[in-house]
Amino acid sequence: MTGTDTTALVEGMPRHVAIIMDGNGRWAAQRGKSRTHGHRAGASAVRKAVAFARRNNIDALTLFAFSSENWGRPEKEVNLLMELFIAVLKREVPQLKKNGVRLNVIGDISRFSQRLQERIQAAQAATAEGTDLVLNVAANYGGRWDIANACQSLARQVQAGTLDPSDIDESAVAGALSLADLPPPDLLIRTGGDIRISNFLLWQLAYAELYFADILWPDFNDHTFMEAIDCFMRRERRFGLTSEQRQQLLAGI
Ligand code: IPE
Ligand code: IPE
Ligand code: MG
Repeated sequence: MTGTDTTALVEGMPRHVAIIMDGNGRWAAQRGKSRTHGHRAGASAVRKAVAFARRNNIDALTLFAFSSENWGRPEKEVNLLMELFIAVLKREVPQLKKNGVRLNVIGDISRFSQRLQERIQAAQAATAEGTDLVLNVAANYGGRWDIANACQSLARQVQAGTLDPSDIDESAVAGALSLADLPPPDLLIRTGGDIRISNFLLWQLAYAELYFADILWPDFNDHTFMEAIDCFMRRERRFGLTSEQRQQLLAGI
C-alpha cells in the first residue's frame, strides 16, 4: 500500500461511513466477463473496505449490497447475488468475529429464502459481541421502505395507545428507522461514477457529506477510501449555521 494506512485516531475522521458499492457489472463487461464475475470481485472489495474501516478506527460502516429495486434484474443475476450472500456470510463470519466486527443486516429480509434468512440471523448472533466496528449490510433495502416501515411501527404504537400522535416528532421517526442506534453517516461514498442516491438511506443521509468516485466497486481500495476521507476532512460541515458560528462551536466558545 502507498502510505494510506493511518492507525492512530485522527481528529475529524468520519465515525460512520456509508458506501453505495456500484459498478460491478461494468467492471466485468470491461473484461469481457459476465456480470456475476463482477459481483464476485465486488465481494473481495468488501473485505478490503471492512479491514480499512477497522484499521482506521471508523465506528460504523454501512454498505448498500442489494436494493429493493434490484429484484427487477434478470433472475439469473438475482439468484447469483443471493447465493453469493449465503457463501460470503458463511465464509466471513469467523473472521468478522475474530476481528470484533458486529454484523447487522438492514432491509426487508422477509423476502429472502428461509435459508438466507437463517444464515443472516446466525451471522448476526455469532458476531453480536463485536465492539470494534459495526458493519451494516443493506440487503433488500430501500430508503422509502425504511421510512414507510417506521411509519407502520409508530402507527402500531398509536393504535396500542402507547404513543400520542402529537409525540411523533423527528426523533420518534429517527428512532423507528434502520440504524436508529447509531449516529447518522458522516460520509457517503458512491463508486461507479453516477451521482445519485438510488433510494439508499434517504432520511439518515440528510447531513452526510457526499463523495462520488469514478472507480468501479471491484477496484475500490485503501487509496480510494483514504482519498474520500481526506476530502471529507477538508470540508466544513455547517449544519445550517454560519461558518463563524461553526468555528465558535468547535472552539467551545
Ligand atoms: C452494484 O453493481 C452491485 C449491485 C447493485 C448488486 P452493479 O451490478 O449495479 O454494476 P453496474 O452499475 O451495472 O456496473
Ligand atoms: C445501487 O446501485 C444499489 C446498490 C449498490 C446495491 P444500482 O446499480 O442499483 O443503482 P442505479 O440503478 O444505477 O440507480
Ligand atoms: Mg449499478
